[in-house]
Amino acid sequence: MRFTVAIDGPAAAGKGTVSKAVAAHFNLAHLDTGLLYRAVGNRVLQGEDPVEAARALRAEDLEVDGLRTPAVAQAASKVAVIGEVREALVDFQRAFARRAGGAVLDGRDIGTVICPEAEVKLFVTASAECRAERRFKELAENGHDVRYDEVLADVRARDARDSERTAAPLKPAEDAARIDTSDLTIDQAVASAIAAVDAART
Ligand code: DC
Repeated sequence: MRFTVAIDGPAAAGKGTVSKAVAAHFNLAHLDTGLLYRAVGNRVLQGEDPVEAARALRAEDLEVDGLRTPAVAQAASKVAVIGEVREALVDFQRAFARRAGGAVLDGRDIGTVICPEAEVKLFVTASAECRAERRFKELAENGHDVRYDEVLADVRARDARDSERTAAPLKPAEDAARIDTSDLTIDQAVASAIAAVDAART
C-alpha cells in the first residue's frame, strides 16, 4: 500500500504532535523532516560546510542530543534556504514517503515539493503568539533559560525566513486541508487530522 500523509506548517503549530498521533493511529511510519535540517544545522554550527554536511548526512546524525535547542532551530532554518542542501535531502524523503505500508511526513514542503501526490495533505497552523507561548513553556519545562519575547522574536524570524525563501518556501499546497490549532486542544487537533485521513481512505 502506498499511502502518504503530508503535514506542513510553521514552527510550533503542533505538526509534530499531530503527525505522531496520526502515524500511531493508522500504524504508519513517521518522519519528522525538520530533524534532517536540524542535523545539518548542527553540523554547520560545528564548522562544516552546509552542502557537504547535507550530502554526508547519516542516520546517527538524527540521534544527536541538542537538536531541539533554539540555536539549532535557527541554524536549521538558515541552511534550509540553500537549494543544494534541500536537493541533497530530497531522495531520502521521497523514498520514505512512498515506502510500502504508508508514511506520515511533517515539514514545510511535503505537500508542495516532496510528495505532491500525497493522498492526504494537511496544513497545521496557529497564530505566532500562540506558537511562541507553547514553545516558551516547552523550553522552560526542559530547563532552558528563555524569555517569552525572545521566543516570539525567534518564531517570527523563522516564519519570515521559511516563507520568504525562493527554494521550496513554506506555504499550503492548493489542495491542503487547513487546521488552525490556536483555539484547539491537542485532542481536538488530532481528531480533526484523523478525520481528514479517514475521509481520504474511504
Ligand atoms: O520543523 P522544525 O522546527 O524542526 O524545522 C526546523 C527548520 O528546518 C525550519 O525552520 C525550516 C526547516 N525545514 C524545512 O525547510 N523544510 C522541511 N520540510 C522541514 C524543516
